[in-house]
Amino acid sequence: MNILLIGSGGREHALAIAIAASPLTGELFVAPGNPGTSGIAANVALDIEDHAAVVAFCHARAIGLVVVGPEAPLVNGIADSLEAAGVPVFGPSKLAAQLEGSKGFTKDLCKETKIPTAAYERFADPAAAKSYIRGRGAPIVVKADGLAAGKGVIVAEHLPEAEAAIDMIFGGAFGAAGAEVVVEDFLEGEEASFFALCDGERAIALASAQDHKRVGEGDTGPNTGGMGAYSPAPIMTDEMVERTMRQIIEPAVRRMKERGTPYRGVLFAGLMIGKKGPQLIEFNARFGDPETQVVLPRLDQDIVPLLLACARGNLPDAPVKLKDQTALTVVFAVNGYPDAPERGSLIGSLELASGVNDVTITHAGTKLDGDKLLANGGRVLNVTALASNVSDAREKAYQALAMIDWPGGFFRNDIGWRAVKRERGEA
Ligand code: AMP
Ligand code: GLY
Repeated sequence: MNILLIGSGGREHALAIAIAASPLTGELFVAPGNPGTSGIAANVALDIEDHAAVVAFCHARAIGLVVVGPEAPLVNGIADSLEAAGVPVFGPSKLAAQLEGSKGFTKDLCKETKIPTAAYERFADPAAAKSYIRGRGAPIVVKADGLAAGKGVIVAEHLPEAEAAIDMIFGGAFGAAGAEVVVEDFLEGEEASFFALCDGERAIALASAQDHKRVGEGDTGPNTGGMGAYSPAPIMTDEMVERTMRQIIEPAVRRMKERGTPYRGVLFAGLMIGKKGPQLIEFNARFGDPETQVVLPRLDQDIVPLLLACARGNLPDAPVKLKDQTALTVVFAVNGYPDAPERGSLIGSLELASGVNDVTITHAGTKLDGDKLLANGGRVLNVTALASNVSDAREKAYQALAMIDWPGGFFRNDIGWRAVKRERGEA
C-alpha cells in the first residue's frame, strides 16, 4: 500500500522510519519531509493547506493511507477533506481535533464527563477574567483558548503576572487563538505524556513518555518544544496507566462519539500525576515531538496495521506489543534556541554517530545545500538510543552525540535525570 505522511519534523522522521519498515508499505511519500526522510521515502512539495491538491495527489499515487503528523492541518480539516474523497486517514476530523484546538472545549468536555482536571473558568472579557483571578489567588494558570504554537500557556506565580497574561492574550499576542481565555488552578505533581490509539469507538493504550520542556539543565530557562524525552515514564505504572485509560481517555472517546464527532487517531494526554492520581493538563490530537522518537522504537509490532485500524474503525482488542526496553532521545538544538536561533551552520558527518549500536538519528530542522547538511530550525537533530534501562540508553545517546561535529548546536547534558535517579533508588 502506498502511504502519504504529512509533516517535516523529528516526529515525522521517526514515523517514516517505522512505516518504511512495514512489509505492507509500498511507496512512502512525505510532504514536505526533511533531509532525514528523503533517505527512506520520497519527499513531495505539497501545499498542505490546499486540500484539493492533497486529495489529487492521493488519487494520482493510489494512496491507501494518509498519516497526519502535526496538529495544524488536523484543526484545519485535512482529515475531513480526505475522508470525503474516500482516502483513509490517521488523524481526527476538524471537530474531533477541537480536543487540541480549543482548551475551553476540552475543559467543558472534562466537566461533562468528570475527567479529573484543574478547576477552571472560560472568559471572553479581560475584566471578568481578572476579577476571577483575584478571587482565586496565585499560583494560577492562564491559557489562550486556541493553537498558539506551544506559547499560549502562562503559569503565573503571582497575580500581576497572571493579569499581565490576560492583557497580553486579549491584546492580540496570539491573534484569534486568544479571543477566549481559560483560567485554571495550578496543579502540583509530576508531568507525564500518555498516548492512546483511538478508532472512533474505542481506545487502546500505546505508551507513556516524559519530556524536558525547558531549554536549560536542571529544567531551567524558557520553555521549548522539548529538549529530550524518554519512554516509558517510570511514574506511569500499570495502575496509573489503567486509571488514565478509565478516568481520562475512555470517557473522552465515549463523549466524542456521543457528540457525533468520533475521535480517530492518537490521543495524547498531557498529565499531572499528583496525590489524586492522574489529572488532565491538556489533550493533543497528534503524536508528541520528541516523544514519538522514543515511543516508536519500543513498538514490537508493525505500526501500519495499527494506523490503518484507527483510520478504518476496527482496532483490535489485543494490547499493543512493546519491547521491555527504555528509549531516550536528546535534542541537538541550534545555538540561540529558543529565543534567537542562529540558523545556517554546517553540521558535520552523522555517519559515525549513526553507527553506534541501537542509536537512531532523526532530522528535524535540517536542510541540504548540495551535499552539505545545514541547520535550518530550532530543534535540528534527535539522537535516540534504545537499551535495557534508562541509564544505559542515556549513556549510548550521549556517546553518539559526542561523535557529531556541529559547533553551531547545543544539547542538554541531563536528559532523563529524574528517571536515572529513580532507577538508582535515589528518588
Ligand atoms: P499545555 O500547553 O497546556 O501543555 O501547558 C504547557 C505546560 O504548562 C505544561 O506542560 C505544564 O508544565 C504547564 N501547565 C499547564 N497547565 C498547568 C496547570 N493547570 N498546573 C500546572 N502546570 C500547568
Ligand atoms: N513534546 C510536547 C508536544 O509534542 O506537544
